[in-house]
This record gives sequence, C-alpha cells and structure tokens, in this order.
Amino acid sequence: MGVNDKAALVTGASSGIGSELARELAARGYDLVLLARRADRLQALAGEIAARHGVRCHVLAADLADRAQVDTVVERAQRALGGVPLTVLANNAGSGVWDLFTDVPRDIAQRDIDLNVTALATLTHDFVARAKAHGRPAYVLNIASLAAMLPAARFAVYSATKSFVLTFSEVLAWELRDSNVRVTCVCPGGVKTEFLEHAGQELKKDVGMMDSPEVARQSVEAMLRGEVVFVPGALNKVSALARFLPRGLRLRLVERSMQMAVRPAK
Ligand SMILES: NC(=O)c1ccc[n+]([C@@H]2O[C@H](COP(=O)([O-])OP(=O)(O)OC[C@H]3O[C@@H](n4cnc5c(N)ncnc54)[C@H](OP(=O)(O)O)[C@@H]3O)[C@@H](O)[C@H]2O)c1
Repeated sequence: MGVNDKAALVTGASSGIGSELARELAARGYDLVLLARRADRLQALAGEIAARHGVRCHVLAADLADRAQVDTVVERAQRALGGVPLTVLANNAGSGVWDLFTDVPRDIAQRDIDLNVTALATLTHDFVARAKAHGRPAYVLNIASLAAMLPAARFAVYSATKSFVLTFSEVLAWELRDSNVRVTCVCPGGVKTEFLEHAGQELKKDVGMMDSPEVARQSVEAMLRGEVVFVPGALNKVSALARFLPRGLRLRLVERSMQMAVRPAK
C-alpha cells in the first residue's frame, strides 16, 4: 500500500449518514479517521472499508460533547494518519431531541449545543489552521439540516444549532474564498437513520425520506464541486422555498408536515 496524499476525518461515522460518507470517501481514495463514541461499530466499519477499498482506516473513539476531548481530536487524527495530510473534515455528528423546549432536561439541551455547535466550530478551527499550513486542496463538509432553513416546533435547540451551522459555513466559505480550503454546508430533509429513534420520534408516514447512501453521495459530490449550500433531493429543494414565507405561516406549515410524518416515540 503506497502513501496516500489525502485523508478525511468523519465524525459520527458509527451509523447513518456518517458511515455512508466514510464509504463514499474511501471509494474516492481517501484514507480515513472514523470518529464516534461506539468504538466497536467503528472497528467493524474500518475493517469493511479497508478490505473493500484498500485505504487506511483508523478509529478514534471520542465524545464530542466533552470539550476536553474535542480539543485534541484533530491533533490525534493527524497523528494516526502519520504523513498523510488531513484534507477533508466531515462534521457530521449531531443530535437533537424532539420535544417542547421547556420539557427537555437542561443538560440534554446543553449536550446538543456542545455537539452540534461547539465541537463543530472547534474542529473546524483546528482543521483549517492545519489545512492552510499544508496548502493542499482541502474541504470542510458540514452536515446541517433543512431545519436550519425551516425551524420546527419541538425542535427549538436542534433548529437553532443547525442555523448556526448554516450561517457559520456561509461566512467561513466567504472568508476562505481565496484560500485552498472550500466549505460546504449540506441541509438534508428526512433521512432513514437511527436519528429518529435518538430524537424520540416514531415514523408515522414516509413522506419522501431519503436513504443515507444517496445523501452521502450527493453531499460528497457537492463538496468536490465547491458548493457552499446544498440541499439533497428534489422534494427538499422545493420545501426549502418555504423559508421565504411569513414566519407564522412557515412555522405552522413545518409543524403540520412534521406531525404528518412522525409521532413521539412511546
Ligand atoms: N436523519 C435525518 O433525518 C437527518 C436530517 C437532517 C440532518 N441530519 C443530520 O445528519 C447528521 C448525521 O445524523 P444521522 O441521521 O446519520 O443520525 P445517526 O444515525 O443517529 O448518527 C449520528 C452519529 O453521531 C454520533 N454521535 C452522536 N453523539 C455523539 C457524541 N457526543 N460524540 C461523538 N459522536 C456522536 C453517533 O455515534 P455514537 O452514538 O457512536 O457516538 C452517530 O455516529 C446529524 O448531524 C444530523 O443532525 C439528519
């Protein structure tokens, strides 16, 4: 196996969109660092990917809601990769609880802010500094949500953290426009993953949910094209237009469509 010249750190790689981003990037020849809390899942995926694509695949078990752990992630990822430069940061790990804000325990709301906002900004800061230093074409791929454009009732913290990801990505992409680093923010609508279960949702009706391999493929293609904001899927692109509606109408429509699709899990 020769020495590669590109590598990706994928957060939230133990399931859903993150596992598929890892498979997609490996198919394009990237060495990988897979990050999540569930090390056993990451090991299994690393074995599968290395065997199928012949890339090097490292595992980094870390809790991104813990600031002390976040502080050393990029450094640890680069150390694991040896001389292979880290050229992609896929900030995919994210969580949310679907409930009235005042009914969400304060520490759970804080955990989602720490993961979706603080960890994402810290990793991006560390990654961009290193990418500017090595000078190779580099990419930040931030996974936000359609909720960044269409905030949803019972998803106050989640919607707000994803709005942060969208705004942060837009400004960072602009600031880095003359550099070697590109920034892409993906805003998926519903995707069939474990996210629903973790958010406390049960699917009532599949209204245009996408499969995670398709979302991952489209996301990586948008990243390589250098698109700043990308909404996967035709139906989601149309839905995103609702962001131009008056606020009250928009909130009502989003609430109705969520109520059609999901119910609180028992
Ligand atoms: N599914 C959807 O409908 C949907 C729609 C729009 C946007 N998104 C976004 O897509 C991204 C991926 O979600 P998904 O749908 O693939 O959900 P998922 O299957 O639940 O995956 C979430 C990933 O994040 C990791 N994670 C959670 N908390 C973590 C922590 N504290 N530290 C490190 N890793 C952590 C999980 O791994 P461990 O549990 O092993 O740590 C898992 O690998 C999220 O940012 C989500 O907001 C999802």
